[in-house]
Amino acid sequence: MDFIMQMEPDYGAEEKKAVMDYLDSGGFIMEFKKTRELEEAIAAYTGSKYCSIVQNGTISLFLALKAVEVGQDDEVIVPDYTMVATPNAAVLAGATPVFADVDQTLNLDPEKLEAAITKKTKAVIFVSINGRGGQLDKVKAICQARQLHLIEDAAQSLGSRFQGQHLGTYGVIGSLSFSVPKIITMGQGGALLTNDEKLYQKIRKLKDFGRPEGGADHYEEMGWNFKYTDLQSAFGLAQFAKLKGRVERKKEMWRLYQEGLKDVSRVKMIATDLTEVAPWFMEIFVPERDKLQEFLKDNNIGSRPIYPALHSQPVYHLAGSYPVSEKLSQEGLWLPSSTKLADDQIKYITAKIQEYYGQ
Ligand SMILES: Cc1ncc(COP(=O)(O)O)c(C=O)c1O
Repeated sequence: MDFIMQMEPDYGAEEKKAVMDYLDSGGFIMEFKKTRELEEAIAAYTGSKYCSIVQNGTISLFLALKAVEVGQDDEVIVPDYTMVATPNAAVLAGATPVFADVDQTLNLDPEKLEAAITKKTKAVIFVSINGRGGQLDKVKAICQARQLHLIEDAAQSLGSRFQGQHLGTYGVIGSLSFSVPKIITMGQGGALLTNDEKLYQKIRKLKDFGRPEGGADHYEEMGWNFKYTDLQSAFGLAQFAKLKGRVERKKEMWRLYQEGLKDVSRVKMIATDLTEVAPWFMEIFVPERDKLQEFLKDNNIGSRPIYPALHSQPVYHLAGSYPVSEKLSQEGLWLPSSTKLADDQIKYITAKIQEYYGQ
């Protein structure tokens, strides 16, 4: 068996044709009609009124916070288990991220969220880890009761729903990412979803130097250049055409892993409702994870430890008790998850894990 990567992008002739056709059309490369087309496609697919595409999913979180006027002296509550971009976006906005522990689905724990609220709290970023909505309904109710802006970091959730509604559309603003490991990718990319026209117009201004209209040099507020490119959107539209098939494939892949590992008592997977969730990465939880990772590598299988508990990372270096994120982040391992994977590769991987545990 050739080496199986933990993740790799999935693209082919359709993306190549889309890019060549775009170049043949003499387009200006910068953000214009192709980006509008992709924004409309994503808005329609997610059921969001508006979508605005930016350069990546870190900038989209930053813009979401700026749009609701989070800044200096404000606190933003984030889960202790997430990609580091979530708290870093709060820092970029001039605010202080405050970590709260997660529940057994790796999503923000509503009780821990309540306990972390102070007079300075202005916003909460709920991260739907791996496409799961966790207790988002409770988190939303707390945000409403306490008048906090709910931002959804749905970077891992394109194609996933919670209680029938697409993730990223529960908060005032939702954020998506199109980096290489995501279900569709343009190399880099991010998007903001919102139903609020005023916020949408504000986001459009903030990403274009604070101008209400491109080309007219009149600056209404502080803004930057976070615009996208039509070249990437041409590629992205070809990726988007494959999204529905990929959602099904991700669910099928999770089922295959689940089936292959169900009798291995030391391997745990988080309960995931596949009627709603298209898992982003295939994650397992095992004791002494690093030894399993080594064994898999020796058998040509790539894997990667899941994110660390962020409060303890050198960049934040905070004390505090976050037992769930600490425990799960030490046990979690991402297995190969690209939609390019074939069934027999997944069967080989699960057979090797069975062999490792002597089953
Ligand atoms: C939960 C989460 N938030 C934010 C990001 C950042 O997105 P980007 O890499 O597009 O900046 C990621 C990317 O992996 C993510 O998984």
